[in-house]
Amino acid sequence: MTAASISPDQKQAGFSGFGCSVAIVGTGSYAPEKILTNADLEKIVDTTDEWIVTRSGIRERHIAREDEATSDMATVAAQRALEQAKVAPEDVDLIIVATITPDMVFPSTACFVQNRLGARNATCFDLEAACAGFLFAVNTASQFIKTGAIRTALVIGAEKLSGVVDWQDRTTCVLFGDGAGAVVLQACEAPRGILSVVTGSDGSLTELLKLPGGGSRYPVSPQTIEQRLHYMKMVGKDVFKHAVRAMSEAGRKAIEQSGLSIDQIACIVPHQANMRIVEAIRDRMAVEPERFFVNLDRYGNMSAASIPVALDEAVRTGRIKRDDPILLVAFGGGFTWGAMVIRW
Ligand code: ACO
Repeated sequence: MTAASISPDQKQAGFSGFGCSVAIVGTGSYAPEKILTNADLEKIVDTTDEWIVTRSGIRERHIAREDEATSDMATVAAQRALEQAKVAPEDVDLIIVATITPDMVFPSTACFVQNRLGARNATCFDLEAACAGFLFAVNTASQFIKTGAIRTALVIGAEKLSGVVDWQDRTTCVLFGDGAGAVVLQACEAPRGILSVVTGSDGSLTELLKLPGGGSRYPVSPQTIEQRLHYMKMVGKDVFKHAVRAMSEAGRKAIEQSGLSIDQIACIVPHQANMRIVEAIRDRMAVEPERFFVNLDRYGNMSAASIPVALDEAVRTGRIKRDDPILLVAFGGGFTWGAMVIRW
């Protein structure tokens, strides 16, 4: 990666390389055409629309075609974000894809996306922090911009979770969906841009949410397949408790570090896992429902894609406007969590 030269626009914006502010200058998203409703799920596992809606708030989710991989969804989301940002693919210096469902173990999904976009000048890699992956990736990319190492980054959260959920396990398969969201990051003039970031992990709780098979611990074998280790496993009740605590604490800390008060936050975009988790965070943070952006009823939990898809919808529908202070907050397997305050 070479040191970025400074564009005339960035000179005008006061861009001075090291320590500059970093903004999201474009968003895009993609959801597969096929919609799987709760009524459809009633035909697959022993469940009801009523159970799913009361326990999770989810009504439907998008499911990728069999021949549609994570990078296919990621590429469309990225093209839409680049178009909104008015950035050409060859001007992208860095592509990070946050995913737990890469196309292959290697090469990285980011390399597949690079090729499809024609972003030949980009350095590409994947980042895995489960449902918090998108926030971790934005934080990582913004460090490259802040140090002046690069000028433009493309960060994508993309997942084909339908390929890793156990369609015989009603406790998990009703919760997840497929999709992709992308953002373009560039330097900007303060006080806009990312104001604060809080991240954390707790590796003592890896057992509560995992996909054990197919890695070096349990390489794929007839036995791992028979034991269904290639599917996601979750201890739902415990995940719920930790998710609520970690997200409300991270959110509160990020707001405090941004120098703003909670009343000044115009919109909160939480990880879209479960409506009851969102409600519990709302109660803990004492924020009225209208300030939370929620679309999980139409998408389910898309892990690393959840926040960027919601963010794109919030921006394109005018729910988030220029200069609005917003909070993004996520939690996922690992455990991993993070929160970020951005002045849009
Ligand atoms: N349909 C009907 N019944 C079901 C279903 C289903 N799909 N799933 C479970 N049940 C049954 C259980 O078998 C159980 O029956 P029993 O009492 O006869 O044993 C009963 O419903 C209650 O099950 P619980 O697991 O106690 O249900 P709970 O109220 O805890 O809700 C849920 C389960 C929705 C998974 C909840 O624990 C949760 O939301 N956890 C958070 C998980 C999450 O969002 N993870 C996402 C990944 S991490 C992240 O993104 C934050």
